[in-house]
Amino acid sequence: MVSNSSQPARIVSGMRPTGALHLGHYHGVLRNWLRLQQEEECLFFIADWHALTTHYEDAGNIAEHAHEMAIDWLAAGVNPKLSTLFVQSHVPEHAELHLLLSMITPLGWLERVPTYKDQQEKLRERDLSTYGFLGYPLLQSADILVYKATRVPVGEDQVAHVEMTREIARRFNHVFGREPDFEAMAEEAIRKMGKKQSRLYRDLRKRYQEQGDEEALEVARAVLDGQQNITLSDRERLLGYVEGSGRMILPEPEAMLTPTPKMPGLDGQKMSKSYGNTISLREKPDEVDRKIRTMPTDPARVRRSDPGDPEKCPVWPLHKVYSDERTCEWVQQGCRSAGIGCLECKKPLIDAVNAELAPIRKRAQELAAEPDHVQSVLGEGSERARDLARQTLVEVRQAMGLKYR
Ligand code: TRP
Ligand code: SF4
Repeated sequence: MVSNSSQPARIVSGMRPTGALHLGHYHGVLRNWLRLQQEEECLFFIADWHALTTHYEDAGNIAEHAHEMAIDWLAAGVNPKLSTLFVQSHVPEHAELHLLLSMITPLGWLERVPTYKDQQEKLRERDLSTYGFLGYPLLQSADILVYKATRVPVGEDQVAHVEMTREIARRFNHVFGREPDFEAMAEEAIRKMGKKQSRLYRDLRKRYQEQGDEEALEVARAVLDGQQNITLSDRERLLGYVEGSGRMILPEPEAMLTPTPKMPGLDGQKMSKSYGNTISLREKPDEVDRKIRTMPTDPARVRRSDPGDPEKCPVWPLHKVYSDERTCEWVQQGCRSAGIGCLECKKPLIDAVNAELAPIRKRAQELAAEPDHVQSVLGEGSERARDLARQTLVEVRQAMGLKYR
């Protein structure tokens, strides 16, 4: 796949406000964010409108859940100096872009998104035959495109949404990137780059168009990235002109599949609030202790002297997340030979989880005592995000013929 190397790398991801987060969120998502914020420009937002697409009946506490979730993000180490943290509904440009994109989105694209039918079947007790629910992947597309994101870290279930976002961007550029005199304007823009760069650009464009040389496309994008003496519109024209279509107003983002293992819960299933098998990020030490001590184990170990098999025990997958090789070896040996008891086996796990949670719990406590601070982090983040989103909307409106002097 061709990466969008001419755009500055920008990562955007959202999370529904589910309230207090648990270890599944930490290992599955947040640790990845902590790494990304060190490397690239990141925007992370609380997807409060998305919560309404499935749960409009119990809307009352979305803001409260959002606040609690922001506390957990910060406590886990998401750093507002490194990344922009904000609330989706504080940036109304998401909604405007969603509306504008809806004009060119074929119904079939939305109906074909796998989560559409899946969720309707899974959440039968909810009313999901709404316009909002059908349109929710497009709202997600707007979330991404409004920042011209280059990469979107998502779980497997969300890859189809990013794919659709790419199709929407392509369609938008195709429909609205066309200008009556596109070719003439592109040619004019080429000349503005100077003799040497112009020749290079023409050569790369030819290589891409005639031989489908993807590398030439990448290089052409990099060349345009380095251009100081052309306007943004000209850059968009020339980006589009390489491929021949029209101006590239909305770049296509790429999905970044998070390479994280599914966090096992207390019962061997995936850790999830709906299974009631979680340890929250703010769980008290004695609760961690109790929850792990009462975890089911290999049913074959009725008595202490009965040997067991870690593969049949939900405690073992947690060791694989938390314990070093030596401890894992000790569990394998001790379990199979009945050399250790189950409580003994669980002890290092309890210690490891508590050691991981101690600093998070402490920071969360401090943040909970400072609600104004948390709100101001989100307020400042929302301002910053809005500045970016506004710029995109200026271009989008103009491309769609909505520029009023
Ligand atoms: N739909 C995502 C989820 O349910 C959350 C989300 C909303 C998102 N907008 C996004 C994720 C944009 C990535 C990018 O988990
Ligand atoms: Fe599970 Fe450990 Fe008990 Fe074996 S010893 S059954 S791995 S808790």
